Amino acid sequence: MVAVAEQVGEKMKYILGIETSCDETAAAVLGEDLHVLANVVLSQIDIHKEFGGVVPEIASRNHVKGIDKVVQAAIREAGIELKDVSVVATTVEPGLPGAVMVGRVFGEALAVALGVPFIRVHHILGHIASIALTGERFKEHIALVVSGGHTSLYDVDANGIVTEIERTVDDAIGEAFDKVARVMGLEYPGGPVISKLADEYMGELINFVARPNYKIKGFSYSGLKTAVLNYINREQMAGRQIDKRKIAASFQVEAVEQIIYKCLRLLKDSKIKVLTVSGGVSANKHLRNRLAEECRNIGVKVYFPEMKYTGDNAAMIAASAIIGLKFKVT
Ligand code: KG4
Ligand code: ZN
Repeated sequence: MVAVAEQVGEKMKYILGIETSCDETAAAVLGEDLHVLANVVLSQIDIHKEFGGVVPEIASRNHVKGIDKVVQAAIREAGIELKDVSVVATTVEPGLPGAVMVGRVFGEALAVALGVPFIRVHHILGHIASIALTGERFKEHIALVVSGGHTSLYDVDANGIVTEIERTVDDAIGEAFDKVARVMGLEYPGGPVISKLADEYMGELINFVARPNYKIKGFSYSGLKTAVLNYINREQMAGRQIDKRKIAASFQVEAVEQIIYKCLRLLKDSKIKVLTVSGGVSANKHLRNRLAEECRNIGVKVYFPEMKYTGDNAAMIAASAIIGLKFKVT
């Protein structure tokens, strides 16, 4: 507990977290011991569904509409008053520019009005901190972040300094799930739908023959995505019905195997024997099972967030501020 504690010292009591970087308007109240007193998430998924993805301008407008109510709901749920807040922590990057700006301006103005410190949080550090909300505490670890915007591996040292090891060179894994779902006419967000269809399928898999050279640094999902799209187009042009379950299962296996390969390569020879997995895609059952199985084989402990903290939320943003995670300055 460094960053926030250093700034507020004895006064630190309740940390208000705010998150608006994409399509969730979220606020949370945490105690300094990372105890979550309130976690309110107003999802805009139903609004964006009809467009097949997030429309940035609509997201920003809905954050403006919802932010005040969401913050007030979090304060109420926590059983405190606004004047009891001793720190405001808010996502300030990355994200949809207009969307992230809403939370940032709201949070900063509130901090000024309350006369308390304002902590700027990087969204990815929030995802990494989401593991701490399960009550797990460890010093050094490798953090895998898999979401709609990121597929990255990081080294997190004992002081909470985060150094990127590798990231995707093109699409993020969640983005690939969403795009594949879209061409199959499935609803947004595609990850949960594909995952459900895949889990219902037991038969033979399609070989999409799109495996990137895993030995090269960086994740890559655009080849796999294109291979699936080409397969669907070919089948439809030939007048054949596509089997959505089979495509979903084949895509999911290939998407997850890339993660397995990269994590094992890194962890097998590393002194670090703890892996944390966070971000929206960390809700994926197949990914959880495969990582748990492979990590067990090489003596690595793997941790996932609670399901309610896999997607975007503000509890993880406040947690990052409390723990004091920081990117290494190069
Ligand atoms: O972390 P998140 O809520 O937002 C970003 O920071 O991007 O992640 C959202 C992503 C979406 O692409 C969504 O389809 C994916 O997480 N996702 C899943 C599952 N649940 C959500 N992907 C695969 N399997 C799931 N069960
Ligand atoms: Zn996220």
